[in-house]
Amino acid sequence: MTTQRTTSGDVEDAAGASNQDPQALRSAMVEGIIARHQQLGRVVPPGVEAALRTVPRHLFAPGVGLEKAYADDVLVTKENERGVHLSSVSAPNVIAGMLGQLDAETGQRVLEIGSGGYNAALLAELVGPEGSVTTMDIDAEVVERARACLDRAGYGRVRTVCADGEYGAAEFAPFDRIIVTVGAWDLPPAWLEQLAEGGRLVVPLRTKGLTRSWALERAEGHLASRSHLMCGFVPMQGAGEHRRTGIALHGEEVTLWLDDGAQVDAAALAGLLTTPRAEAWTGVTRRKGEPFSDQDLWLATTLPGACQLAASQQAVERGLVAPTWRLGTPALLEGTTLAYRAKLRPTGSGEDPEISEFGAYAHGPEAAAVAEHLAAQIRRWHQAGSPAPRLSAHPADTPDAALPEGCVLDKRHTRLVITWPESDR
Ligand SMILES: C[S@@+](CC[C@H](N)C(=O)[O-])C[C@H]1O[C@@H](n2cnc3c(N)ncnc32)[C@H](O)[C@@H]1O
Repeated sequence: MTTQRTTSGDVEDAAGASNQDPQALRSAMVEGIIARHQQLGRVVPPGVEAALRTVPRHLFAPGVGLEKAYADDVLVTKENERGVHLSSVSAPNVIAGMLGQLDAETGQRVLEIGSGGYNAALLAELVGPEGSVTTMDIDAEVVERARACLDRAGYGRVRTVCADGEYGAAEFAPFDRIIVTVGAWDLPPAWLEQLAEGGRLVVPLRTKGLTRSWALERAEGHLASRSHLMCGFVPMQGAGEHRRTGIALHGEEVTLWLDDGAQVDAAALAGLLTTPRAEAWTGVTRRKGEPFSDQDLWLATTLPGACQLAASQQAVERGLVAPTWRLGTPALLEGTTLAYRAKLRPTGSGEDPEISEFGAYAHGPEAAAVAEHLAAQIRRWHQAGSPAPRLSAHPADTPDAALPEGCVLDKRHTRLVITWPESDR
């Protein structure tokens, strides 16, 4: 057997297996996931933990070194010619969170949309031999790969199907649980039709440009959310594909992303970022590690003109923009003025370096006012007790009067409503 040295210095054989113990690496991966969940005030359910400790993730990552196979990171398995990710084995932490949301039990029938093999094996552990797991993917190569990995790892009982997940897998329905592991923009009718009474659907759904994994259950003619998690997924292909609109603000360096029908006159924004910058600070602070992804969704769903700003590393380094984070910072477009949430700044008291403050930057004719609009809306989320969102999904023909009060998003098949009940934190 030939050996080679990796950049990390591990000795690997030609197939990519390093000289470390997979069991020890797997334990370390699980401990890391438990710690990350604890930081966010969440718990990894015992069944999910046991499945993570059992399934040999490295067998679903052939050609990848053991350390990488057990790192808490996504493993990209397919890209298009432009380097856009088409398929991957999802990061274990995200998988653990979504399996917690799914709450699959022994003996249940589960459909997974989007295959990698690994998550299907975890599902097989969760439902046991009395249950059934069907995993489907639109890409024949992905299905073939998942099939081979599942067989190799001893999960021959998982069913693999090659088809567009938009239509589910009617021949094997109903399912007690449906878990979608690809970024969706809408909830197609098949998912609801194929979900058993009392069933649960977990789906990474994009609303106003932001993807959250929602656990949904039936409730009086609609679906209601039970929990949500921040996540990122490759976008759905096939009949359910839906692209966001990207507006180049400064060549390729800064892009404004619009979703769910938002419109903009791109030409009127040319050169905007080189005009003078106004700023507004909120007095709202955050301790390091404290999550605030719900604030992003709050801004996206409560501000008309909300969008997201993404920038290249170079644009940030040379100070063209200073967003909270590089890819997908909340932004607000009012006419030809653009505001975005600023990189958090230290509070200045120096007493606690772990605390920083939210603020907004803006460019354009109304820069000071729009920066203040964004800052004020950040303050409102905080004053409301940092509420968490709820999502409900209603049939497309539901009249406005029958919808709850909130941000209504008209999709192809459903009317989604995001509401912000008073915080119970
Ligand atoms: C993130 S990967 C799935 C990861 C996997 N569940 C795992 O075990 O980690 C997303 C997959 O969704 C697939 N996909 C994209 N659009 C799809 C569609 N309409 N129906 C079924 N699969 C789709 C892609 O080909 C890709 O393989």
